[in-house]
Amino acid sequence: MANGQLDIGLMGVGVMGRNLALNLADNGYTVALFDTDPEKLSGLDHPGLTGFTDLSAFTVSIRIPRAVIIMVPAGAALDMAVDTLLPELQTGDILIDAGNSNHHDTKRREAELAQQGFEFIGMGVSGGAEGARKGPAIMAGGSQQAWNRAAPMLTAIAAKYHGESCAGRMGPDSAGHFVKTIHNGIEYALMQMIADVYALLRDGAGYTPADMAPLFADLNSGYRHSYLMGITEEICRTLDPETGRPMLDIILDRAAQKGTGRWTALEAQDLGQPANLVEAALLARAVSSQDGLRREIEDAFGSGITGFDQGSVSKDDLGAGLLAGMALAFWQGLQVIEAGSREWNWDLKLTEIAKVWRAGCIISGELVSTIAAQDEPFDATRMITGPFYKEILNEGIPALRRIVILALQDGIAVPTLSGALALFDLNRTARGSANMLQAQRDFFGQHGFERMDKEGRGYHGPWAG
Ligand code: 6PG
Repeated sequence: MANGQLDIGLMGVGVMGRNLALNLADNGYTVALFDTDPEKLSGLDHPGLTGFTDLSAFTVSIRIPRAVIIMVPAGAALDMAVDTLLPELQTGDILIDAGNSNHHDTKRREAELAQQGFEFIGMGVSGGAEGARKGPAIMAGGSQQAWNRAAPMLTAIAAKYHGESCAGRMGPDSAGHFVKTIHNGIEYALMQMIADVYALLRDGAGYTPADMAPLFADLNSGYRHSYLMGITEEICRTLDPETGRPMLDIILDRAAQKGTGRWTALEAQDLGQPANLVEAALLARAVSSQDGLRREIEDAFGSGITGFDQGSVSKDDLGAGLLAGMALAFWQGLQVIEAGSREWNWDLKLTEIAKVWRAGCIISGELVSTIAAQDEPFDATRMITGPFYKEILNEGIPALRRIVILALQDGIAVPTLSGALALFDLNRTARGSANMLQAQRDFFGQHGFERMDKEGRGYHGPWAG
C-alpha cells in the first residue's frame, strides 16, 4: 500500500479501539491501527483496516494532515502514548483522545500541543463497547478548526437520533471531556436510583428478578423510557448459563468505579454546586466495596428489614417517584455543566449537549430528548420551575416521598431516592436552616454573619462564650 493513503489512525486496539475502527471502516473510512501487541491486531478481517506494530510505518500510512485517535487508559498511559507518537507526527496533525480523561489533564495537553503546532481533541465517547461499534454519542472539545476537520468522520460514526448525528463539538479545549465527566456523574446517579428501586422491591416486597422484569418493562415508558431502564429489564430476565439461576442473584454486590463519578463530585464541589445525587451513588459504591464490614455490622445489629407485602408498593408511585428522581439528577448535572461553562468561559449550549445525549449514550432516553427540545438560551438552574419540570415534580415528589418513607421505615437504604427528596425539599425552602450554622460559626470562630434586617456583612452575636 502506498504511504499517506489511509484516512485515519487509531492507536490502542482494545475492545473499544477495535470497535471504533470497525465502525469507521463500515462508514467507508480506511483506518491504520497501531498496537505493540500483534495479538490485538489479529483477526482484523475488514478490508478498511490495516494493522501496524511499527509506529513509523503506522504514521507514514496516514494521510496528511493526519488524524490519530488514541484509545488507551486515561492518565499516564495517555501521556506516554502522546509522547511516543509526537516525534512521528508533523505540525497540523490532530490527536484525538477518545478515553475518559480528566478534563484538567485535557486542558493541559491541549494547551501544550497547541504550542507545538498540533491540534488536540479531547473526546468523550459514550455507549460502551457496543456503542463504539454501532454508534456512540461523541462529545468533542478543542478548536473549531480541529473539529471542522475531524467532524465528517466523527459525525458519520456517531449514533443517530431520527437521522441527526449525536456527535458534536461541546466547546473549546477540555469542554468535551468535562461534559463526558458530568454525563457519567448523571449516569452514576441514575444507575443508583434504579438500584434503590431494586433494593426496595427485593428486600422490602420480596420480588424476584423474574417478578421485577415486567415491572421494569412497564416503568420503561413515557419520560422514563431510556437506555438504562431497558437494560435493567433485560438484566432482570437474564439467567446464569452455568447455574440456571437469575444472573442478578449470582453477581457479587460490590461495585467499583474508574473515576468519572468521583471527578463529577469533585468538580461540582470546586464549582460550588450541589452534587448530592452523584455523591449518594458514590457512597453506595464505596459501602458496597466494604462487603466484609457490612457482613459484620449486619451480624451485630441484624438487617432490621421486616419486609412488606407487594401490594404496599404502588406502581404508580414507583413510576412517578422514580421519574422525579431522574429529572432531578439531570437538573443537578446540567447545573454543574452550566457552572463549568461560566468558570472557563466556554459558552456551552446545554440543549446542544442534550442533543448529543439523545442516542448512543448511557443516559439517553425521553427525558434528555425532551430537554434537548427546549428553547435556547436555556437556563439549567431555572428549568426546575418551568412547565416541563413542574408537571413531573408536582406529581412525582409526593410519590417519591411515599416510596422513600416506605423504604426508610423498613430500614432499606435508598440513598439517591432520599437524596433527590432532600435536594428538592432544601430548594423549596425559602427560609432555610443555615442561620443556625452561621450562628454556630460566629459563636466559636467569630466568622460573622449577615442580618435579615440590615445591609452588610460581618455582624456578630452577643454570645456569652
Ligand atoms: C459510557 C460509560 C463508560 C464507562 C465508564 C464508567 O458513557 O459509555 O460511562 O464510559 O462505563 O468507564 O465506568 P465506571 O462505572 O467504572 O466508573
